[in-house]
Amino acid sequence: MGGLWLVIANIESKVIFMCGIVGYKGKRKASEVLLRCIKNLEYRGYDSVGMVTKDDKSLHVRKNVGKIDEVDKTEHFEQLNGNIGAAHSRWATHGGVTKLNAHPHLSNDGKIAVVHNGIVENYQELKEFLKKEGFEFKSQTDTEVIPNLIEYYIIKERNGLKDAVQKSLARIEGSFAVVVISQEEDWMIAARRGSPLVLGINKKENEYFAASDVPAFLEYCRDVIYLDDDELAIVYSNSNNPYEIFRLNDLTNIISKKEIKRIDWSVDQAKKGKYSHFMLKEITEQKYTIRTAIEQDHELIAKVTAAIKNAHGVFFVGCGTSYHACVSASYIFAHVAKRHVNVVLASEFRNHENFLKKETLVVAVSQSGETADLLDAVKTAKAHGCKTIAIVNVMGSTLTRLCDTSVMMNSGPEICVLSTKSYTSQLALLLLFAYSSAGRLEDGKKIILEACKHVDKVIDDSLEKLKPLAEKLHKQHDFFLIGRDLAYPSALEGALKIKEVSYIHAEGFAGAELKHGTIALIEKGVPCIAIVTKSTEKMILSNAMEVKARGGFIIGIGNEPNEVFDYFIQVPAASDADPILMILPIQILAYHLALARGFDPDFPKNLAKSVTVR
Ligand code: G6P
Repeated sequence: MGGLWLVIANIESKVIFMCGIVGYKGKRKASEVLLRCIKNLEYRGYDSVGMVTKDDKSLHVRKNVGKIDEVDKTEHFEQLNGNIGAAHSRWATHGGVTKLNAHPHLSNDGKIAVVHNGIVENYQELKEFLKKEGFEFKSQTDTEVIPNLIEYYIIKERNGLKDAVQKSLARIEGSFAVVVISQEEDWMIAARRGSPLVLGINKKENEYFAASDVPAFLEYCRDVIYLDDDELAIVYSNSNNPYEIFRLNDLTNIISKKEIKRIDWSVDQAKKGKYSHFMLKEITEQKYTIRTAIEQDHELIAKVTAAIKNAHGVFFVGCGTSYHACVSASYIFAHVAKRHVNVVLASEFRNHENFLKKETLVVAVSQSGETADLLDAVKTAKAHGCKTIAIVNVMGSTLTRLCDTSVMMNSGPEICVLSTKSYTSQLALLLLFAYSSAGRLEDGKKIILEACKHVDKVIDDSLEKLKPLAEKLHKQHDFFLIGRDLAYPSALEGALKIKEVSYIHAEGFAGAELKHGTIALIEKGVPCIAIVTKSTEKMILSNAMEVKARGGFIIGIGNEPNEVFDYFIQVPAASDADPILMILPIQILAYHLALARGFDPDFPKNLAKSVTVR
């Protein structure tokens, strides 16, 4: 027991963060702006929240544990004065969710405040060094070494803030996106390595932002600069010199060629609007996002198609839901394009290194374009000279800057931690490329557009009908999902949806596999979702029968009712676009299961939207 506690204590002290950060410098009251911005980033972390502002010569810090609205009721963030500041919403995998561990973290002299997203891997070594120099630590976080290192370089080595930040960040092993606010300066510093950071520019109002993601400041500005790894920005917000961007290892030469990009997402797209949850809003948006995803430039489609056809070996890589889209695509590439594609979990990709050549094509599929495991896979591919294509939703994300070519999903911001609309867009795009690789682009489009005609009805019917089903089943401990061929990846993705949001154990199987072991778990009343497509009907129905014979409660999703089903959800046949329609009722069932169990679907426990650690 003692040994176990020792291990846990060790893990706890190395808490992993995936957080949202935002900094502001302008004319408005920073606390009011920052509060709005950090609420837009709450999907990145919701364990605790904090804010720092600077007023004349003082820093003001408030922070606490809980969701932003709850914490704001006690901390009253808007009382903080000043026109410059930073805020943070934190996500920790285990333990350590305390007020002291919440950000911002201050230096010992209280003059430097830092918000951080990432991990300082060598924080113990840096902490020891600083302790020997007389520094004390209040939290168990890795982040607290950063403001203290900055103080060390300012006090002990008489550096200015800029140099002190540079030297401090140079000592960090791991990843960071930081905003630094100093009591002594009227400007802020933002820098990154391995964690996303984007500058927001509102030239008209002369106000500037630095945030983990664009939705943070979308209501204030649409012009952005994506910082690259090892870049540092100083934000002055002076009308003649608003900001300067440097390489972290060279603070003498300003980088002049940073492109300003215009974001075309609307403010409403990043708000819940009339919907009770982002999950529901994003499920409903599939009524048009699938169609939008396939409205691609013809030259781009031709370029991607040629890259696939000319490659000697194609790998599709992704994580979580994006991985399931890759698995689904591999079936269509096999059937339609008669082409073998390898599908590999991004985190396992390095094991395929020996098969990578410069003729190999790696297609990286991701909603965020920031998933660390996926970025590592692409870096591995690039190290071997492979060609790389991104299928991604977030413009300017790290993935788009790493890959040779990017195909944007154009689904609009996906805020809910669970991927819903991005999944069906990925399915549609991959299907399109399978068909274009077979020289049948128009057929592919037709199949998708035909499926799109049914999306409204499938969503509306499921929303109406599946609530009572969820209420009936919400106390179950397990769900099994079965499908064959193209419906197998749908079973995997459906199980993931149920697990992520309702915390009910769920597993997806290829229909025939259940009998090789897992069928032992079927007993009276255990729900089993059978996903039935036209071409697999006979086989999957007999698998469903095997489950029913052992007492299972069979929920059929398919084109026609059957006596084996205890409950039936009708979905029209859509040929190779079946997976697009089949997943919709399962997304909705998962949503209702979460509600029936009293959970907030937008804040699933232990999960983060962008997993920026390995
Ligand atoms: C996280 C999310 C999942 C998502 C996965 C991959 O684990 O919780 O919903 O599928 O990351 O994310 P990506 O942005 O690369 O598609």
